[in-house]
Amino acid sequence: MASSPAPVKKVPIHLQSAQNRVYIKNGEVVNHDKSFKADVYIEDGIIKFVGPAADITVPGGVRVIDASGKLIMPGGIDPHTHMQLPFCNAVAVDDFYHGTKAAVAGGTTMIIDFVIPNKNESMIEAYDTWRSWADPKVCCDYGLHVGITWWSKSVSDEMAILCKELGINSFKTFMAYKGLYQLNDSDMLDVFERIRGLNAVAMVHAENGDIIAKNAKRLLAEGVTGPEGHELSRQEEVEAEAVNRACILAHQVDCPLYVVHCMSKSAGIEISRARQRYSGKYIFGETLAAALGTDGSHYRCQHFDHAAAHVLSPPLRPDKTTPEFLMKLLASDDLQTTGSDNCTFNKKQKELGLGDFTKIPNGVNGVEDRMSLVWERGVHSGLMDPCRFVAITSTNAAKIFNIYPQKGLIGVGSDADIVIWDPKASRTISKDTHHHACGFNIFEGMTVHGVPDFVLVRGRICVEDGSVRVAEGFGRFISTPLRPSFVYDSIESKTESEEGQQVEQQNGNVAKKLVEMDS
Ligand code: URP
Ligand code: ZN
Ligand code: ZN
Ligand code: ZN
Repeated sequence: MASSPAPVKKVPIHLQSAQNRVYIKNGEVVNHDKSFKADVYIEDGIIKFVGPAADITVPGGVRVIDASGKLIMPGGIDPHTHMQLPFCNAVAVDDFYHGTKAAVAGGTTMIIDFVIPNKNESMIEAYDTWRSWADPKVCCDYGLHVGITWWSKSVSDEMAILCKELGINSFKTFMAYKGLYQLNDSDMLDVFERIRGLNAVAMVHAENGDIIAKNAKRLLAEGVTGPEGHELSRQEEVEAEAVNRACILAHQVDCPLYVVHCMSKSAGIEISRARQRYSGKYIFGETLAAALGTDGSHYRCQHFDHAAAHVLSPPLRPDKTTPEFLMKLLASDDLQTTGSDNCTFNKKQKELGLGDFTKIPNGVNGVEDRMSLVWERGVHSGLMDPCRFVAITSTNAAKIFNIYPQKGLIGVGSDADIVIWDPKASRTISKDTHHHACGFNIFEGMTVHGVPDFVLVRGRICVEDGSVRVAEGFGRFISTPLRPSFVYDSIESKTESEEGQQVEQQNGNVAKKLVEMDS
């Protein structure tokens, strides 16, 4: 893992305001592909130098941070948040200010949120609404995905405008939320085909909405009205079936697909199978801090408020081996990214579902604690090295959504979105100290190793020795350009014979396994 960058010529640092200039010395730079001892110099929000101290002259008047014993990593990119989302008759309480403040406090320096248009609403109007909410409030940079919540010629036309003029390259489809956002297979195929034609990236919320609706009705009729009904109505196979179907639908029209919030072992296996079937092309998988850090046993808690606070979709799973299983899939590149799906509701809002679990607003916290949780359960536990941590918390999202190397890299020319990480320090997560606007934390009481000592958002020091000083509106909207090469190069390099071989090869592997099991 350890290697040094090529020597560079001495770079003089001119005296300017210390605010714009930061010099980080004595740290270990960790990127997705290698780690090495290097100093980092930042000017006007951009990384200008990465290399040995001997290659740079540091004048006075520059803010110097001593990172001895610390790791200098790309700030986290959370590819899945819902700040101030109007959902289930409530509005998520973490708005773009509180949500991004919480993100930065935890070492995340960019979020990608979702524009979710109402049925029959113009996507451009919805996009404008989200921009008007976010732009004045964001404390860190942000991008947007757009939900396809209905399907028509006008939606198709607006997708092109969003892509070509408004900085969008990814669209989320829903196989769940029947009667609200759910698309049928025929529409999904058309949407995926359109996304492929635009060289964009499809995303999917994979759960079978028809099964969920039927189960929920039956459970309520049987008198199961509490939060435990949420998981009972949408068990693992309901998620896994939809993942499998979505992967096949996307592949049929040659469209790359990013499966959001993989919450179960069965769904993870389906993603992994699809990646194997298509030789690592087309399919990318995301799981959540919630799925890695806690489990579905909370739905059985007698206290409605506690159980309801854990309700999100797809749900946490009662199988307590799920978090470690998903972490191993991240370590082995069967899954590529970690998001938070941060969508927080307070006690009163969750109580809209008292007496009917289908009315509990769906969503949990995670944007603040994602980095520490993944470090604790991934690196501190020994399942992955720090480079893989950087890949799954930052770089892979930057590559998939085509903002690499501007984001997701400690490199010359990249934005100075940086976390100086203390791998030895620990902290205990609590609603009393978190920066969210909600009064509950699903990770309450967990002690996690890995603490951000400093967080720099485009060169601005926002976290220093535990104190968080963000600037409302400092963040910028980051356009996500079409045709991410990380996604499209491999798809376009495919040949017909290769495709045939893949299927043969996988069937061969399965057949071999069956024979082995038999004997
Ligand atoms: O429960 C969840 N996940 N709430 C946010 C909406 C979504 O489906 O991602
Ligand atoms: Zn979703
Ligand atoms: Zn309880
Ligand atoms: Zn979500």
